[in-house]
Amino acid sequence: MILLAIETSCDETAVSIVKRLRGKQVRFEVLSHKVLSQVDLHAQYGGVFPALAKREHAKALTQLIAECLDEADLLIERTNTHHIPNTERKKLETLLEREPEMLAAMKVLFEGIQKPAIDAIAVTSGPGLEPALWVGIGGALALHTVWDIPLYPINHMEGHVVASVLSHTDGNYEIPELDVPAVALLISGGHTELVRIPKWRSYKVIGKTRDDAVGEAFDKAARMLDLPYPGGPQISKLAEHARKEGLVVDEDLRLPRPMINSGDLAFSFSGLKTAVLIRVNKRKPIDDITKRMLALEFENAVTDVLVSKVKQAMYETRAKTLIVGGGVSANTHIRHALKNLAESDGFTLFVPDHALSTDNGLMIASTGLLHIATDAKPKVKIIANGSWSIEDC
Ligand code: KG4
Ligand code: ZN
Repeated sequence: MILLAIETSCDETAVSIVKRLRGKQVRFEVLSHKVLSQVDLHAQYGGVFPALAKREHAKALTQLIAECLDEADLLIERTNTHHIPNTERKKLETLLEREPEMLAAMKVLFEGIQKPAIDAIAVTSGPGLEPALWVGIGGALALHTVWDIPLYPINHMEGHVVASVLSHTDGNYEIPELDVPAVALLISGGHTELVRIPKWRSYKVIGKTRDDAVGEAFDKAARMLDLPYPGGPQISKLAEHARKEGLVVDEDLRLPRPMINSGDLAFSFSGLKTAVLIRVNKRKPIDDITKRMLALEFENAVTDVLVSKVKQAMYETRAKTLIVGGGVSANTHIRHALKNLAESDGFTLFVPDHALSTDNGLMIASTGLLHIATDAKPKVKIIANGSWSIEDC
């Protein structure tokens, strides 16, 4: 079973091709894996600009699919002239009506190469930026239409969960058995949620943010400190620096720990962002030491809240496993704090490999294999759903 996965929910265009290996457990080999980041382009706008994201995905996707097929040794060029049969060509033209450039590239691909030995396609269908999601879905539907390969829509947040638990041995990956119930802490640019997982493919959101997501708060706070997008890694770097030099945060720069004593599993980060703004405005123009103090205090405040809510969620659900996923899970300080909690409270912790913490195709590919292994049925109609909850996937 060979599966091709496409991810275009935000600002990375990603394609992966994996081969399921024999055995009961979902084990697979990565045949190719490519991520094309648009981060530098969006940096000049201080955040992801949806229309630009969509355009860049549409420009890059077909070529990326061809490169991945080639790397996976699945690309066989045609030696004779080949025309896409009329019915399929018409379907393709309707499907990619709004993406003329991608339509042209897809036609060249279908005319130039033979149908590759791909058994299934998985594509992110939400949550995310809908215009961006549609590009990936359009690409997946095009391959499905012309090559007649079954299609599986994948929830991006489920992808983050699966990416976090992947174990990596002998060059192959495996989705392990979970010691359930598990709790997932999903922290990304668009999400902050705690999810109870009684078994694979079953998800219940037990707590989420009332306003901004953690990653969004990192990015906005970074902007106030004149740091480039994406702000998370930048704040983290300054905070690390501050910790190393033993910097003590001035009293007037201290920040609140929003909702830490709310007694429930809800989060709120918009107040924290405003609190940063107030402190920045009071000290304008801010010097480098103030920047480092605020970065340190911000990262500590976020970490305190996350640790406290996770502790409560683990206790309330009697969970034995914590899975941390999403772009913010790349944060070293947060990882460290959750590792300490796991040791003191006695639960198993999964965090993703650094390369798999931000958006990529492997998270979608592995989730696709999980769907197939748990008898999910392929879909013929797939639509982008920008706010698709992990509960409904
Ligand atoms: O999962 P992701 O790649 O995209 C979404 O699905 O949103 O997450 C991106 C988010 C951004 O907000 C970025 O600032 C944040 O993850 N991020 C970090 C770190 N690396 C990425 N936040 C804090 N510390 C980091 N080291
Ligand atoms: Zn993500």
